[in-house]
Amino acid sequence: AAARQDSMSDRAPTTVAHRGASGYAPENTLAAVNKADKLGFDWTETDVQRTKDGELVLMHDTTLARTTNVEKLYPTRSPWNVSDFTAKEIARLDAGSWFSDDYKGEKVPTLETYLKQISKNGQKLLLELKSPEIYPGIEYQTLRELKSEGWLDSSHLKSKLIIQSFNADSVKMTHVLNSRVKTGFLGNPKVSELDSYAKFTDQINPTHSAATKEYVEAVHARKGPLGKRMQVLTWTVNDAATARKVDAAGVDGIISNFPDVVRDATGG
Ligand code: G3P
Ligand code: CA
Repeated sequence: AAARQDSMSDRAPTTVAHRGASGYAPENTLAAVNKADKLGFDWTETDVQRTKDGELVLMHDTTLARTTNVEKLYPTRSPWNVSDFTAKEIARLDAGSWFSDDYKGEKVPTLETYLKQISKNGQKLLLELKSPEIYPGIEYQTLRELKSEGWLDSSHLKSKLIIQSFNADSVKMTHVLNSRVKTGFLGNPKVSELDSYAKFTDQINPTHSAATKEYVEAVHARKGPLGKRMQVLTWTVNDAATARKVDAAGVDGIISNFPDVVRDATGG
């Protein structure tokens, strides 16, 4: 398993902790990524967005309502968009209590804080640019932040960082801004469209129902912009039977809220 985690290559699928080990701790918090570390997972996925005053923070939804106490603290600020709050306001939020009292006081991390923590843990990052259409320039800003935290050196570029998005233009922009960064497109373009995706993305990352053997083979038949066989990471797989199914289909990685369940099922 160690070798697979290092290379994310053609053998058994690499398990990626989704929003951290988010089945066990509140998603996209330091608690969740530390939990993934404790369980032995180096690859972890997270979502990045931007505050009103231009800070990059980790949040899945485009509003703060589901995973923080924002409605209680700022009752008049509906619909509580990430982009309508300053970093200082967001820093006051409790991002743990909604999940369980054990995580009361857990914070919404900035990308900077998060990068420092996963560097300390020796973890690797599948970073999703979430709804980048709302945040013009977020590709450049994210790359700049990654660079200043030491995440764009050769060793990180080679095996520790992937940037993905549902937004193809954003993936393309990321590739154009730094052609050495490994990229992923979230979705399942038609097989007839894969050649055009292969110009700017190294991975095609579909939902598990779309990750059939035929589809995975079609992706594997192409080379991405880094000159290597394109890969497939699939999501969000939270049970053993589905994990075994996508493993049999030949995926390169499995993204899961319960990564230990996937590891037990696949050995990855
Ligand atoms: O990394 C795959 C997955 O995170 C994409 O969907 O909605 O969980 O961000 P979502
Ligand atoms: Ca995500």
